[in-house]
Amino acid sequence: MSHWVEIPASALPASGGRGLFRHAGRCVLLVNVDGTLFALDDSCPHAGASLFGGKLDGRFIQCPAHGLRFDLASGCLAGRRDLGVARYPLEWRGDACFIDLSESTFQVPTP
Ligand code: FES
Repeated sequence: MSHWVEIPASALPASGGRGLFRHAGRCVLLVNVDGTLFALDDSCPHAGASLFGGKLDGRFIQCPAHGLRFDLASGCLAGRRDLGVARYPLEWRGDACFIDLSESTFQVPTP
């Protein structure tokens, strides 16, 4: 069941930026890469470090703790399709951005 929540405009990062969106006990990392917004759980699945301070390389973010890299679009660990961090669907409705917080676990993307 979907659980769509509007992200306040003040929490939306500008192009090239990132931010955190906290809601109902969740902490979501929002990253804007060249105008495309991505939403991932801000907890690395390896040992729980925050990904917020990770190094960005295009569409990948590197965990600052031990260096694992995740694809922002899929949540997948770089080079793997079976491991990753939870990502959340985003939907624009006019100028408002909504996030579906019902997807709380890593989902293996369909090919
Ligand atoms: S906590 Fe992220 S790579 Fe170890």
